[in-house]
Amino acid sequence: MHPNIDMPIGIFDSGIGGLTVANAISHLLPNEKLVYFGDTAHFPYGEKSQESIRKYAIEISDFLYHDKKCKAIVIACNTASAAAYQELKEAFNQKIPIINVIDPMVELLVNSNFSKIGIIATRGTISSGVYQEKITRRKKEQHFAALATPLLASMIEEHFLNNQISHAIIQNYLEDPILNQIDALVLACTHYPLIEKEIATFYNPPITILNSARVVADKLALILEKEQLKQNKINNPTHEFFVSELTQNFNDSTQIFFGKQIELKEIKLNY
Ligand code: DGL
Repeated sequence: MHPNIDMPIGIFDSGIGGLTVANAISHLLPNEKLVYFGDTAHFPYGEKSQESIRKYAIEISDFLYHDKKCKAIVIACNTASAAAYQELKEAFNQKIPIINVIDPMVELLVNSNFSKIGIIATRGTISSGVYQEKITRRKKEQHFAALATPLLASMIEEHFLNNQISHAIIQNYLEDPILNQIDALVLACTHYPLIEKEIATFYNPPITILNSARVVADKLALILEKEQLKQNKINNPTHEFFVSELTQNFNDSTQIFFGKQIELKEIKLNY
């Protein structure tokens, strides 16, 4: 199957956190139809083995490519980008572009001048060391402070936002001495843009807080342009949203992640 302009863009994450990326993409590329897959049955990816995540990522991408005929796939999850990007690239790159959420942020950081970059993410992303490795390859003397913050993604999916509990959990993590002296903090999990403001209030004087949603959308736009796959026809696409396990909670949460109410459909893949 050769990709063409009229095909949709596939996006996936472990849950509904990747809707923050889908949201940025739909704003930047309003004529593109999106097909989103949230692997809610396997959430959280941050606690799964790399091998399991690779298996899920391949199955989901097969669904997006073969069944939904997507012209590009965005891995809207740092944990899956760290564990499965290489494998997906090898499996699909000759067919369609595969975009991960780590490389566009690395590009931004390599071209910035921060003295010590803090990174917060799931256990899977932090233990992969992927950000440090990719940045150090190009900028040897960069200093980092990386901290696994495993409660945050679940806290966000459970709607604990802007309340006493979320403040206490965020404060507890950010007070960790490992993060002392950072002048930038990378929100290396696609759930975290939803607590960006809460995180920012912790820092006085303020520091730079970065999330990847916008840079990933920019990168996707560039790639589509280059591959002559960008939809320029003005239309009003109807996006599709799938999850591997549907709960009322996920349905209710979509609005805060995507900015407007959407309808999730359940689909069982063979994995
Ligand atoms: N959204 C995922 C990420 O960007 C994290 C959530 C999870 O643990 O599944 O890493």
